[in-house]
Amino acid sequence: HGAAQVLVASNRGPVSYEVQEDGSLRARRGGGGLVSGLSAIGPDAGALWVCSALSGGDREAVRRGVGEEGVRMLAVPAEVHADAYNGVANSVLWFVHHMLYQTPLEPVFDAGFWRQWENYARYNRAFAEALADEAAEGAAVLVQDYHLTLVPGLLRKLRPDLRIGHFSHTPWAPVDYFRMLPDQVVREVLEGMLGADRLGFLTRRWADAFTACCTELAGGLGGTEVGVHGLGADADFLRARSHEADVEKRMATLRAEIGAGRKAIVRVDRTELSKNIVRGLLAYQQLLDDHPEWRERVVHVAFAYPSRQDLAVYRDYTAEVQRLAAEINSRYGTPGWTPVVLHVKDDFARSLAAYRLADVALVNPIRDGMNLVAKEVPVVADEGCALVLSREAGAYEELGEDAIVVNPYDVLGTARALHEALTMPPHERAERTKRLAAAATALPPAQWFMDQLRALTG
Ligand code: G6P
Repeated sequence: HGAAQVLVASNRGPVSYEVQEDGSLRARRGGGGLVSGLSAIGPDAGALWVCSALSGGDREAVRRGVGEEGVRMLAVPAEVHADAYNGVANSVLWFVHHMLYQTPLEPVFDAGFWRQWENYARYNRAFAEALADEAAEGAAVLVQDYHLTLVPGLLRKLRPDLRIGHFSHTPWAPVDYFRMLPDQVVREVLEGMLGADRLGFLTRRWADAFTACCTELAGGLGGTEVGVHGLGADADFLRARSHEADVEKRMATLRAEIGAGRKAIVRVDRTELSKNIVRGLLAYQQLLDDHPEWRERVVHVAFAYPSRQDLAVYRDYTAEVQRLAAEINSRYGTPGWTPVVLHVKDDFARSLAAYRLADVALVNPIRDGMNLVAKEVPVVADEGCALVLSREAGAYEELGEDAIVVNPYDVLGTARALHEALTMPPHERAERTKRLAAAATALPPAQWFMDQLRALTG
């Protein structure tokens, strides 16, 4: 047995390495909600974070024995990881939970899928073995997300002494959608997860959907407990970080791009199919048509950072976002006004700069486990902001009352919501922002983590 008392396991870890031109390795912070939430733990908490080597730089770091304290990167063979991550996790399980399939043509579970599934199982076994190896007697293991659904069951067999939890950072699919998966996959995923002592979800809605799947497809939850932990924003970190010099500098640049006296509708996302960036742009265009008075007086600041670019559908979606933004700019733009300021290069300091300058935050995913952007902007915005929020985001459960709520498919409705947000009286905007920020920070990441640990270890 190993020495770690608390272990976290996830595909994406807190850092990723890039090989520089001079051959040295540069560390970068990982993106997405899972890493944002778990980064609060840090090595001081004494936890060991087992994650995957994702980039060429990560593999190089493993080869050179470079790494951060408290982090162990696993380098499974590249083709095993590609099948597990791109194939099963991101093209199948992510699609199911976010209901992204265009069902007349997809999904197709053919021989190629089953090879990927074999590698997904292999990948999960590699994690289970590493965790079994590192965990001290009776340790607590917190497994994260849809990449690692088989780990709890596998680890239980290897180490019956451990307390095992699993947390889903995504929605959970409704039963009728979930059972599109082949029966064997349904069975193995549910059995794998039910190998845990305790399962966590971001909202009641996703927890109930999971429970319904188990009732109907697995004969119940067995002895597994299900809990809800609504990850919140880290107010202290965000407020401090967003006032650092690099953020101030980017604010100046961004102010110049927006232009004096104009309102800013801000969105920040991974360029992710579920984030609904295209319909957001269409709604903005509709706003400019329905309310020409906003022309020259508003700018849509859209940061759409590359994500999962190994997948063709993500590349196509990225291209469509760029094409549509350019089209809006050429159709409506004037010499002194660029209607859409689109940035695609990931830059955390610039995201915070946009948060601070936001008059309106647009968060319109077609389905989202939580969406931390919805929780972060109200905390950071200098003048407060109006939040246009999809009712299909997990954050809706906590923020719905003080947001302007939209059906994400309804482009005209979203355009109306943008207008309402832009014209919200300053007093009301301030009041709502205050309540949004309070709700958004009710469960900061460190507490979110400790609550789960306590619930797991009793
Ligand atoms: C979501 C998932 C995370 C994932 C993140 C970024 O938040 O729940 O598990 O890490 O997206 O996606 P990526 O594929 O880049 O890790």
